[in-house]
Amino acid sequence: MGAQQVRDGFVALYGAEPDGVWSAPGRVNLIGEHTDYNDGFVMPFALPHTTVAAVSRRTDGVLRLHSANVKDTAGTAGGVVELRLDALAPESDRNWTAYPAGVFWALREAGHPVTGADIHLASTVPTGAGLSSSAALEVVVALALNDLYELGLQRWQLARLCQRAENVYVGAPTGIMDQTAAACCTEGHALFLDTRDLSQRQIPFDLAAEGMRLLVVDTRVKHAHSDGEYGKRRAGCEKGAALLGVDALRDVPYDGLDAALARLGDEEEVRRLVRHVVTEDHRVERVVSLLESGDTRAIGPLLTEGHASLRDDFRISGPELDLVVDTALEAGALGARMTGGGFGGSAIVLAEAGDADAITKAVEAAFAAAGFTAPRTFEAVPAAGARRLV
Ligand code: GLA
Repeated sequence: MGAQQVRDGFVALYGAEPDGVWSAPGRVNLIGEHTDYNDGFVMPFALPHTTVAAVSRRTDGVLRLHSANVKDTAGTAGGVVELRLDALAPESDRNWTAYPAGVFWALREAGHPVTGADIHLASTVPTGAGLSSSAALEVVVALALNDLYELGLQRWQLARLCQRAENVYVGAPTGIMDQTAAACCTEGHALFLDTRDLSQRQIPFDLAAEGMRLLVVDTRVKHAHSDGEYGKRRAGCEKGAALLGVDALRDVPYDGLDAALARLGDEEEVRRLVRHVVTEDHRVERVVSLLESGDTRAIGPLLTEGHASLRDDFRISGPELDLVVDTALEAGALGARMTGGGFGGSAIVLAEAGDADAITKAVEAAFAAAGFTAPRTFEAVPAAGARRLV
């Protein structure tokens, strides 16, 4: 999405130049799923798909919002939504406007003097595809306000505020991965993030240089986090931590997993959740060490193992996601797994560059044969995190 185009859209709507233009990316998660609200490890990277915002300050307590992506029933561009900052209330808005409004709410709750804005947005991040369109929307607004109001907040602090906007204002109990990915990822790297203290390491991730490709397959099955299943998994993990007497499941060591499972006795559902989280944290650490030692192909089986764990223990996959993974592996992929929150959304496939097209075709054919909506596949190359464009 071009900065100029979004700037022009702003001028057409509001009749003046914006103070600036910012962007924030969607993400895929390479490995480390449903570990972030367990204080564990994740490894996302930014996509070239971005949400771009042209923004000007206002001083009268009014927030005006417009998105080029939102169409009204007649199919034309939707109107400008006008909100009063002093009337913002958690869980009062079920529309897309809750995300940017939630950022204002979270900043004001934290005592930051934001007094309004005119905002025009346009996004290429697919929605409902598990690629963090919500976090891109939150983070682009937070970064713009941080600059325009000279708040002096660091990237990780913006991520925390955006997570609060999503958890409390929007009402979706997500972890911190997506907002941190949008705020902190850098081009050419995957972000190894410890979600307990947000310490991070940028891991070089250049598959093309090693003759590989990473495909993202959007199954077109829409997922939604506020739907309840995500919250149930989160609550089950918290129950597991409480039963085991630890702050978070991250504190259960991998070599203490069997003992922990034994202590959980006949709590079968909690046992499965705990097993996933503890083995997944371990997989992230193994992927990091393989990448750092240059053994990139060897991460494939770990991705596939992660998928089996999400499917069988965490139980958040689905027929379409499983079909992508099974078909890709049969067609010669090095590894494949669902990515993101689950219950639909996208899968990732790691493949030798020369096999990627045949794998894409095999997945398309399998979807057609199963009567599923045609998936959308694109290659993911680690792109830049949130930044000011103009
Ligand atoms: C969603 C949430 C994240 C994380 C993932 C699963 O993307 O927003 O916080 O929990 O699901 O790893």
